[in-house]
Amino acid sequence: MANIAIMGFGTVGAGVAEVARMNHDSIAANLGEEVNVKYILDVRDFPDSPYAAKMIKDFSIIENDPEVDVVVETIGGARVALDFTRRALQAGKHVVTSNKELVATYGRELLEIAKEKNVNYLFEASVGGGIPLLRPLFQCLAANQIEEIAGILNGTTNYILTRMVKGGVSFAEALKEAQAKGYAEADPTADVEGIDAGRKICILSDLAWGKEVKPAEVSMEGISALDLKDVDIAASAGYRVKLLGHAMRMEDGKVAAYVAPHLVSQDNPIATVDDVFNAVMIRGNAVGDVMFYGRGAGDLPTASAVMGDVLDVIEHRTKRRNIGWSEGACLADIKELSMRWYLRGEFSAEAARKECGEAEELAPGAVITAPMKEADAKAAAAALGACAVLRVL
Ligand code: HSE
Repeated sequence: MANIAIMGFGTVGAGVAEVARMNHDSIAANLGEEVNVKYILDVRDFPDSPYAAKMIKDFSIIENDPEVDVVVETIGGARVALDFTRRALQAGKHVVTSNKELVATYGRELLEIAKEKNVNYLFEASVGGGIPLLRPLFQCLAANQIEEIAGILNGTTNYILTRMVKGGVSFAEALKEAQAKGYAEADPTADVEGIDAGRKICILSDLAWGKEVKPAEVSMEGISALDLKDVDIAASAGYRVKLLGHAMRMEDGKVAAYVAPHLVSQDNPIATVDDVFNAVMIRGNAVGDVMFYGRGAGDLPTASAVMGDVLDVIEHRTKRRNIGWSEGACLADIKELSMRWYLRGEFSAEAARKECGEAEELAPGAVITAPMKEADAKAAAAALGACAVLRVL
C-alpha cells in the first residue's frame, strides 16, 4: 500500500481526495497496490467532511512519518507551499503539485533538491489542468527540437471571453461564474492580468529548452483592458480574440516568451476552443505541429493530472524521472518579433495602407496589418489615431 498526504484542502486538494476515493479500486488494480490518503493538511477545520479523521494541521507529522511515500502539494502560492515542499523533499518524500506559481518561480531549485535526494518532483497539473501536456513534452517529444509553443493556458479568462461573447454576460458576471465553478485563482487578478498564463508559458519554456525562463522577465498582458467592440469586430470578420501564451526559440538560440490577447483566425483550431478548455500547440522539428486540448481548470480534471503523477511516482519510487532545467535562459526582446497587428480607430483602409503597407480591412476603421515589429505597429497606430492595438496569431 502506498500512503499519500494531501497538503491544502481547497478545490484541487479536495478533487485529489475524491479521485482517490472514486477510482480507488481501478487504481489499485492497475497499479498493483492500494493508494491510501493518510493525511490531509489544512489550517481550516472541516468537522463535517468525510475526511475529518484524516485532517491535521501540523506539517511535521507528514515530514516525520516514514509511511508517507508521496506528498501532494495543493496549497498554492509560494510561501508556505515553498517551505513545506523543500522540507518534504529534504525528508526524502516524493512531491507532486498543481502549483504553477511555485514551479515557475522555484522549480529549478526544488528539482535540484529532488535530484540530490533521489526523489521525484512532478507537476503535470501545473499547466493545462487535466490535459496530459508536460509529460508528452519532456518524454514523447524528447527527440525533437521544440521550435514554438502557443496556446490558451488559462481556463478562467477563456471562460470569461466565451461567456461574454456567446452568453452576453458582463465581465464581472462571467468572472463570478468562473469563481463559483472553481476555475479562478484565490486572487483572480492572476488570471485576468495574464500572470497565471505567464507562469505556465515559463514552465513550458523551461521544459522545452532546458533553461529557466523567469516569470518576472516575461511580458504578461491580460484581458482586463480588452474592449468588447474589438471582440465583436473580430468575430464578425472570422477571428476570435483569445488570451495566448506564446514562446519560441529564435535563430540565435534566444527564447521569446510572452502572454497577450491575440486575434486568432477561425481556421486555426485554437480559435474554436471555448469555456474552461485550454488548447496548446507545440511545434517540434521532427513531429511538426501537435495539439493538446482539454479542461484547463476545475477540481476533478486537475486532480486527474495530479493523481496521474502520484501513480507514476509510486511506480518509479526508486528510479526518479530525470527532469530539470538550468539557470538563465537568454531571452529575446519580444519587441523585435515581427507579427501582424489589429488596429482600430477612426481611419480609412486607404490611410491604414499608407501607414502599414498591406492592410486587411475587417470593418470600417478596423484593419489587420502586414507583419511588422511592435514599435512600427505602435507608430502606425499613433499616426492613425488608433484606440485599439492587438496582436494577431
Ligand atoms: N486559475 C487557473 C485557470 C486554474 O483558470 O486556468 C488552473 O491552472
